[in-house]
Order: sequence, then C-alpha cells, then structure tokens
Amino acid sequence: MSKRTIVTMPGDGIGKVVLEETIKVLNAAGFEANYVNGDIGWDFWCKEGNPLPERTLKLLEEHKIGLFGAITSKPKEEAANELVPELQNKGLVYSSPIVGMRQYFNLDICVRPCKTYKGNPLNFVRRGIGTEIEEPEVDVVIFRQNTEGLYGGVEWSNPNEQVYNAFMTHPKFKQNFGDVPKEEISISTRIFTKNATERILRAAFEHARKYGYKSVTLAEKPNVIRETSGMMYRMAKQIQKNDYPEIELWNTNIDAQMMWLTKNPETYGVIVAGNMFGDIVSDGFAGLIGGLGFACSAQWSESGVAVFEPTHGSAPKYADYEVSIVNPIAMIESACMMLDYIGEAEISKKIRKAVAEVISEGKIRTYDMMKMRGAPDAVKNGAASTQEMAQAIIAKLN
Ligand code: NAI
Ligand code: MG
Repeated sequence: MSKRTIVTMPGDGIGKVVLEETIKVLNAAGFEANYVNGDIGWDFWCKEGNPLPERTLKLLEEHKIGLFGAITSKPKEEAANELVPELQNKGLVYSSPIVGMRQYFNLDICVRPCKTYKGNPLNFVRRGIGTEIEEPEVDVVIFRQNTEGLYGGVEWSNPNEQVYNAFMTHPKFKQNFGDVPKEEISISTRIFTKNATERILRAAFEHARKYGYKSVTLAEKPNVIRETSGMMYRMAKQIQKNDYPEIELWNTNIDAQMMWLTKNPETYGVIVAGNMFGDIVSDGFAGLIGGLGFACSAQWSESGVAVFEPTHGSAPKYADYEVSIVNPIAMIESACMMLDYIGEAEISKKIRKAVAEVISEGKIRTYDMMKMRGAPDAVKNGAASTQEMAQAIIAKLN
C-alpha cells in the first residue's frame, strides 16, 4: 500500500513546536506517512493578506487529513496594521483561518475527548465523606456541532429597516424590544438546521455504540430555547428510540450540566450539544483532566476532510523562549485521534499507553503539571521542556 499523506499545518507560536514534537512521536511509534506542509496563520496574513492561502485548501482537498497546531488571531484594526506596506489600505479584512477552514470544508462534527490520566497532578479531586479525598475518573467525549448556532455569523448591530421590520413581526420582539431605538439593538442569531443537527446527534450515538458508552447526554436548554434546543431534543429522542435503543439518552440543561460536571463527572459518557454550549461544556470537562495541555480535538465533514488539533491557541508569550516549556500532550493526543480516524488504532493505542506511563511515573512533567507559573526559568526549576516530554513518551514506546 502506498504511504498516506498528511497535511501538517503548524501555524503560529507554540503550534510549531508541539507539531514538530508530535511528528517525532508518530515516527517513533511506527506510523508511516508522507508529510506535506500547509501554510496557515499570521505570517501569511501579514505577507499575503490571507491567513488561509488557496494552496493550503487545495492540499487538504487532495489529501483529506490535516494535523494542525495553532494560530494567532488579532482584532481587525490591529491585523490591518500588521500587513506589509504593499497590502495596506487595500480593504483586506482579517478573518480567522480556523473558522474559514471549518466553513470551506463544512467541518461540522467536532469531537473533544476528556479522559483522566492516572497520576496527573492536575486531575480533578473532591472531598469524600470525612477526610477522604476522591479522584473520580473522567471519561467523556463531547460532540459539538461546529458550523451553525451562535457561531453561524448571522448578526447585526443597528439592523437595517428590512431586518428590523422582520423582527418586529415577532410578538416577543415587539413586546420586549419594541420601545428600544433601533440603533441600540444588537442581534446574534442561533440557527439550527435539521440536517446538521441530525449529523451531530448520530455521530454522538455512533461513538457511544462503537466505544461502549452507556449514555448520550444532550446538554442544551430545551425548556427555554424551545425552537433550536427543542428541535435538537425531539430529534435526539427519535434517533435514540429508532436506532440506538441500547444507549440511554439523558437530557440536561447546559447551566445545570456545568454544575453536575464538577460534582459527579464520572457519571457522564458521551455529551452532545450545539456550537456554543458544546464549546463551553468541553472547556468545562477539559479543566477536570488537566486543562489546555491535555485538551485534544478532531473536526470532520461529510466530504472526508478531517482536521486534528489541540484546543489551545498559539500562546505567543511562550513561543520565543529559548527552551520551549509547553505541554505537547494535547497535540500528541490529537494525532492519536487522527490515527483512530484513519484506521491506525493499534498505533494510537501504543502512543496513549506510553503517555499514560510517563504521566503515572511522574518523573517528567511540564510546567503546567508542576503547577508552576509559565516562565522562562520553569525548566531550570525542574519542569520538563516540550522536547523532554516528547522524548520521554518516545522512550516508553519501545
Ligand atoms: P492560548 O491557548 O494560546 O493560551 C492560554 C494559556 O494557556 C497560555 O498562556 C498557557 O498558560 C496555557 N497553555 C496553552 N497551551 C498550553 C500547552 N500546550 N501547555 C501548557 N500550557 C498551555 O490562548 P490565548 O492566550 O487566549 O490566545 C493566544 C492566541 O492564540 C490568540 O491569538 C488567539 O486568538 C489564538 N487562539 C488560537 C486557537 C487555535 O488555534 N485553535 C485557539 C485559542 C486561541
Ligand atoms: Mg473554546
């Protein structure tokens, strides 16, 4: 069989270092692939006026699988000021290449697993009865709808007449906002479509079945947000009843879910939600298993294009340290999700086992695991560097 080609998109800041170390781990674990570099991020915005060049989209279209580090984003005005002089004042407007990539390939399914590693000093603990301390094992996978809802981009400040008049036809709008001057109104919509809602629900149930989770929890707010959350709940009930009778459907409100996850996170298996609530609940669970250094994700689409990336950003303040201090595990875990996706689960299992051993041994820990402040002297004070962590994982592979 010919080798698979993976499009690597390091992006900016620490994205570069964590991706480089991850490729070393993949190689050492015996994953055979060709890597082609995809340009993305701030440099390409500044030099070319486009943080997601056409050539990168072409590469993804051709090879389907992307491994992405992180990018830097800045507000519109700041972004415009950093363009090379030739591109200034040409009306170029910065927009996030991640959002761009999602929209271009319709990467509508976002998956974020949060699983406890034994021995991680950042694990969530709670008080038991008396003086005992409990450390519940979290094993949750969040399925977040990735393209619509509150992040769909359909919004207005001081809406035009036509839009305003359309809203005024809604009795609740008229009753609650009819007296407010138009110029003082901002509106962001939350649009759900049946097709996309069904796709994320089915992806969640499929995952539960494949990996033996006994429940899928819908974390929305159907009692208040009746149309969108309500539709999602009705569809979830139908899909469960018809096609996944062996899996329980639990319905929690997003606000209550954020409380429950700090009380009994071990109760939950697969969680499914719309875009914004999925984003919130996944950060909530990530905090229980060590935070950004451990939070990995996958995004995929009907077309077969899939991109795997850590949840964290480019952490610019750490990018220029002589010795890199950031934790590469979130990126390595994201690569494991890629391996699972392309049918290389044996290799991902091997890597996860190696990561688990390094963490439980506790000899090699990056600054976040040492509960240190992120600073250039972290390594001098006993924290492992990014490279040392990757090397420790590689050493356990053999
Ligand atoms: P960030 O995730 O880059 O960093 C926040 C803090 O989290 C860091 O200061 C650090 O303390 C910690 N952290 C992040 N990654 C870590 C790792 N691997 N190991 C240990 N600690 C880690 O978020 P921030 O500072 O809000 O944004 C920085 C830039 O990244 C911005 O330009 C932002 O727009 C962009 N960003 C990009 C994302 C992406 O590429 N997916 C996601 C979030 C932010
Ligand atoms: Mg987020």
